[in-house]
Amino acid sequence: MTLWQGRFGDEMADVVSEFTVSVGFDWALAADDLTGSRAHVQGLGRNGILSQGEVEVLLAALDRVGEEVEQGRFELAPGDEDVHTAIERRVTELAGDVGAKLHTGRSRNDQVATDLRLWCRRRLTGVAAEVMALQQVLVGRATEAGDAYLPGYTHLQRAQPVLLAHHLLAHGWALARDVDRLVATVERMDVSPLGAGALAGSSLPLDPDFVAEALGFHARFENSLDAVSDRDFVAEALFDIALLGVHLSRMGEEIVLWSTEEFSFCTLADAYATGSSMLPQKKNPDVAELARGKAGRFIGHLTGLLVTLKGLPLSYNRDLQEDKEPLIDSVNQITLALRALSSLFGTVAFHHEHMQAAADGSSAAAVDLAEFLVEKGVPFRQAHSLVGGLVRDSVERHVPLSELVQAHPDLGDAGAKLLEPGVAVSRRSTPGGAGSVAVAEQLERFTRRLGVDRTRLGILAGEDQPHTSS
Ligand code: ARG
Repeated sequence: MTLWQGRFGDEMADVVSEFTVSVGFDWALAADDLTGSRAHVQGLGRNGILSQGEVEVLLAALDRVGEEVEQGRFELAPGDEDVHTAIERRVTELAGDVGAKLHTGRSRNDQVATDLRLWCRRRLTGVAAEVMALQQVLVGRATEAGDAYLPGYTHLQRAQPVLLAHHLLAHGWALARDVDRLVATVERMDVSPLGAGALAGSSLPLDPDFVAEALGFHARFENSLDAVSDRDFVAEALFDIALLGVHLSRMGEEIVLWSTEEFSFCTLADAYATGSSMLPQKKNPDVAELARGKAGRFIGHLTGLLVTLKGLPLSYNRDLQEDKEPLIDSVNQITLALRALSSLFGTVAFHHEHMQAAADGSSAAAVDLAEFLVEKGVPFRQAHSLVGGLVRDSVERHVPLSELVQAHPDLGDAGAKLLEPGVAVSRRSTPGGAGSVAVAEQLERFTRRLGVDRTRLGILAGEDQPHTSS
């Protein structure tokens, strides 16, 4: 039996129900649907559309359904098209005739938009907290790395030595932008669509401001058509996750490279690596590879939703039901990816001696030689060309660069000193640079930033508590 049986003569064809039913995936919204309904019932009571007795009966039924949902005892019935119809059906079974009043002044269009915003607000705040947990792991590893250094790369060619802490914090700052984006997305979506009805509001004396406040939203919708058709917040959430996924992918890719025998910069803990079913010697970085691989899925979900939205006329269209699977999947998968990478980064063993040996290759300090000449008044272009000539000589004639530097009248012993292990990295002293003094300051700034973001997240999590009973 459908909700629209009054208007229709025939039952819905099986293939139509199979094609349109969404309860298999929108059941994830059950807790938020109940939250939305509690606020709606309280609003109806406040404005005299329901008597106080009716409000109490409905709230009690909603609480009982809530317990069934929480304890996994809720039984879906044939004909439960989506989470909203399933819960309304059960409330009606429990509350009797009053149940038929639950949906007064409400449409599934404003209901689903409300549920989804509540769900997103809560889960994206959770994703941001997981990002911060990963940042905390990076800070820990950066602190522990002390003055260890490795080659910094451009074009995947050794360029200049950098502190390992600097490298780890580079990922940390990218993640800070992710936290910032997630917080901004949550703040922007913090608007209640409840009371917009199917598309145009209601002739009943609803109070959208009251329900918005009861649900802990910052504001109510300004335009009912926009309220039921807007899925910008889903697109933004999917973008935030896609870009975060890209960051995790790049971190994963580095672990894949670093853990090769060729690099030997790190060894994964057994618990966060996998073996081969055939080759007994293998230790594979599957976690890092999946962190890299999931990015494709996140980008696909974002692209899919944008394509779904692009041709839709106002206001609600059933196409919008297609927002849920990508959203729920992206949030679940990114949460897992963040947890797995946090553990991986927390347990990986970095091989400082291999990193440093790779960074101590003699030409890693070539720019320091050029800058040494600049300090003596040589124009940079000239200095660059002089040092470039020495590097070429050293490569072609198989003579160590340090010997050529020592023998050069403008460079001599002082120049050769710059090529000694560990010297080049210590000279990157400019703010935000890769040397120890600058990195120590950066670490402080980063830690301070984490404190600020933690406060922002705390505020979001606090706001997340709807002011409705139970
Ligand atoms: N399951 C639907 C969705 O997710 C709920 C809204 C249905 N509204 C409607 N008018 N058919 O979008």
